Amino acid sequence: MLHELCSSLLAQHLPELSEEEIVHLLEKPKHKDHGDVSFPCFTLAKTRRTSPHAIAKELSEQLQSPYFTSIEAVGAYVNFFFNPEEVAPKIVNKILSAGSEFGSNQLGHGCRIVIDLSSPNIAKPFSMGHLRSTVIGNSLSLIGKKNGYDVVKINYVGDWGTQFGKLIVAFLKWGDLEKVKQNPIPELFQLYVKFHHEAEQNPTLDEEGRKAFQELEAGNEEYLKLWTYFREVSLEAFQKVYQLLGIDFESWKGEAAYNHKMDHTTDLLKEKDLLVESDGATIVQLEEDNLPPCLIRKRDGATLYATRDLTAAYDRYTEFKFTQAFYVVGHEQSIHFKQVFAVLKKLGAPFAENMEHIPFGLYLKDGQKMSTRKGRVILLEEVLLESIEKAKKNIEERNPSFPGLEEVAKQVGVGAILFNDLKQDRMNNIEFNMDDMLQFEGETGPYLQYTHARAQSILRKASVEDNIFTGDSHRKSWELIKKLHEFPSSVETAFTKRSPAIVAHYLLKLAKLFNQYYSQVKILEDTREKESRIALVKAVTIVLAEGLRLLGMKAPDQM
Ligand code: ARG
Repeated sequence: MLHELCSSLLAQHLPELSEEEIVHLLEKPKHKDHGDVSFPCFTLAKTRRTSPHAIAKELSEQLQSPYFTSIEAVGAYVNFFFNPEEVAPKIVNKILSAGSEFGSNQLGHGCRIVIDLSSPNIAKPFSMGHLRSTVIGNSLSLIGKKNGYDVVKINYVGDWGTQFGKLIVAFLKWGDLEKVKQNPIPELFQLYVKFHHEAEQNPTLDEEGRKAFQELEAGNEEYLKLWTYFREVSLEAFQKVYQLLGIDFESWKGEAAYNHKMDHTTDLLKEKDLLVESDGATIVQLEEDNLPPCLIRKRDGATLYATRDLTAAYDRYTEFKFTQAFYVVGHEQSIHFKQVFAVLKKLGAPFAENMEHIPFGLYLKDGQKMSTRKGRVILLEEVLLESIEKAKKNIEERNPSFPGLEEVAKQVGVGAILFNDLKQDRMNNIEFNMDDMLQFEGETGPYLQYTHARAQSILRKASVEDNIFTGDSHRKSWELIKKLHEFPSSVETAFTKRSPAIVAHYLLKLAKLFNQYYSQVKILEDTREKESRIALVKAVTIVLAEGLRLLGMKAPDQM
């Protein structure tokens, strides 16, 4: 909105550039003293064959508009200073009329993204590692929608592979169905850990596991029955976590869903003459791509992770006709995705250029990777429940008779965990630290939620609706309003950079400015500007709530 004020003014004096070209050239000055927007004159200097300094100077003398208090040339730049009296009402009133639609755009109009996220492995606990994929993926899909994309969330549950052969062997050797029924995931997980432990001493176990998986793939009924049971109890347990997080999926097609389509994939590869025998296994050579070969079938004919991903990619394309496919998966799987995408290119898949792995760093425990195999794992459900409990105590202390306690404690407790993850640059590893996660002050989710609730409480006290902003002369209000104005561009950059952290940091800055404003201004004082101040507070609640929603968080009105 503000850039357009500059570009339309500039366009009147620059016949050689379109308004759109001008908008693209505009920059945000690094230093406050250099105004709100600046226009670099280097491009013009080339076509006009004069110095950029001279052009900047000439333009600054020609340009005049009530929207600016000053337009100055500094070196090769023309710097614009907005006039708050004229511009602030435009911004605030636009937010009030747009409501939660403020910041939406149509960048992705007509495009569909399928996003592969969460995808935990059955018969194992939902780990902190899967939390990252879940919350980053969910936030990216919300941000994608806000940018006009149609988004399909797919939970590609890890429910197939050699490990289920191993689990079946372990269950038949040492399992106790009654115990498993009482406490499914931890029991199954114990069996899995025990299997690996025993296999270290007794390598024939691995062989048994492989054979059992081979038979499972071939349709062994007893094995299938066990597998189905493992799958069912696992999904029930995962649902609890998704309910806590408030996340759902459009598709639950996991790895096993592709079992009967694997031969088709192998045939496609054969047709293109891409399959090579190596040590009895079947592979696709990827030397030209500087990648290790992609394993398609093991020596015993069993399929692999990559075989299933290739098959799933085709299936998704047929089912959803996507324009882009995202895979939100830890960076330790980068090679795997490079291999899968390279094979798709060799196959000439029509969608091969539209695949994107969106990686992220690991949660570490004492600097080390948390490995499920060794049992070094932290359970997300427990972390969430602990955080909710803490939120409850926190709210009760301040407000012992708070009516919506249970619900709001859940929103705040979960919000703390989500935000702690999303505010990090996604490629960073995060050292798992319960104390950090349960922080409710400083740069945290609860701090943002609390800021929103505080603003809502002012609105309740003001009890006026449909306010219009006409002007607020406090100098803190102008900084706050300019920050509000940046929301749409932060929504757009968050998508193009695949980075929810951009929204998270934007919200922290906005909340900080609002809290400064709030501490310096008597919002409800009966003066001429009262209505405008309330309108501004309302605009802040709109943007905070919408920003939190994009992170997958709730914004309670009271807490
Ligand atoms: N289940 C896998 C894991 O936990 C993640 C699946 C990621 N998605 C995919 N299409 N490979 O490691």
